[in-house]
Amino acid sequence: MSRALLHKEIVLGVSGGIAAYKAIELLRLIARAGGAVRVIMTANARSFVGPMTFEALSGRPVCSDLFDRSGRDAAIRHIDWAQAADAVALAPATGNLIGKFANGIADDALTTLLMAATCPILVCPAMNTHMYESRPVQRNIERLRSDGHRIIPPGSGEMACGTVGPGRLAEPPDILYALETALTPKDYRGKRVLVTAGPTREHLDPVRFLSNPSTGKMGYAVAGAAARRGADVLLVSGPVTLAAPIGVKTIRVTSARDMADVVFDRLAETDIVIKAAAVADYRPRDRADQKVKKDDRAAHQSVAFEKNPDILKTLGERKNGRILVGFAAETERLAAHAVDKMTRKNLDMIVGNIVGGPDSGFGADTNQATFFYRNGDSETPPLMEKTDLAHLLLDRIKERWL
Ligand SMILES: Cc1cc2nc3c(=O)[nH]c(=O)nc-3n(C[C@H](O)[C@H](O)[C@H](O)COP(=O)(O)O)c2cc1C
Repeated sequence: MSRALLHKEIVLGVSGGIAAYKAIELLRLIARAGGAVRVIMTANARSFVGPMTFEALSGRPVCSDLFDRSGRDAAIRHIDWAQAADAVALAPATGNLIGKFANGIADDALTTLLMAATCPILVCPAMNTHMYESRPVQRNIERLRSDGHRIIPPGSGEMACGTVGPGRLAEPPDILYALETALTPKDYRGKRVLVTAGPTREHLDPVRFLSNPSTGKMGYAVAGAAARRGADVLLVSGPVTLAAPIGVKTIRVTSARDMADVVFDRLAETDIVIKAAAVADYRPRDRADQKVKKDDRAAHQSVAFEKNPDILKTLGERKNGRILVGFAAETERLAAHAVDKMTRKNLDMIVGNIVGGPDSGFGADTNQATFFYRNGDSETPPLMEKTDLAHLLLDRIKERWL
């Protein structure tokens, strides 16, 4: 989980659409990520969800009437809340709300707050497909975008009204992700980061291959974190089931040789290389064009291997002022093996971790790692989520070399 929302003031603006109930889930996700939420509803939103639910879940009063004088903070609530906000999320944003916001209309509490807010504002449209695709709505969305607001596009699918197409509110976890991104400092802006992730597959025939249990989670976390921090990120990924991180250019490859080709090809446009992929050291010398059939007579089969290109070593030789970070997954003598790899391959830093345990290494969401630096320093952060470790790694790279 990202720390971007910790102790941040988030205003959740809810307008009168079918998806208003999904704002409840979003509120809970923001609160779980450490954000303090204030809900401001349009009068029509109250026909869909009652303010009590939002009040109970946020632990704070809900505002829906510009002229409501009740409560201790009633004075000029729309201005106070706007000024205190670190971000505003409009979810769901009706076609009507989008129209008013885009055209500077402030005729209720929410639209007046929007006019006064100076923080990032996320607009999450949700409406019937024909409404969404209508010219006025598209024109208003475009206007909001060119005013610098972030539009979180709706998903496609079958709508509550039966039409099929775009218009469903973006999923709450995706809105949360966008909020976190909006609040993450852009300290990697202008940096070009190449990340490798996942395993490689070394085929024996079209249906069989040698590989390893890498799921790519660590590398994807690094790529996503760097993108959130403003870097221009290229992710070169072996075969994994993860979706490409938002805002990351992703090239999918299969074998070590494919990965090497892409990495070397893109090296000239890179400032920082972080190699988290678990690349096969060897590949079968012969690859059959067709599926190899079982030989009933043979009790044993042997396979001859040949060496794959050593991507990291070659990068170390072509370093040319770049920052080069490797990963070492070991089953024993972590420090000795990791430091040896860092030295042999001319790396600036290596992230070592012991694999095989349930909460570290392949497939786990957490990682127990040790950072080894070229100057002999080392550091063992506590067991943490891979996304947190990714941010810590970027913090350390920044402190030492940027
Ligand atoms: C049952 C029902 C569902 C509606 N769902 C949506 C919706 O999903 N999106 C939308 O933009 N408008 C929807 N509307 C229309 C809005 O409620 C209407 O435009 C209203 O003026 C919006 O007010 P507000 O933007 O101030 O909340 C719906 C209306 C009804 C009666």
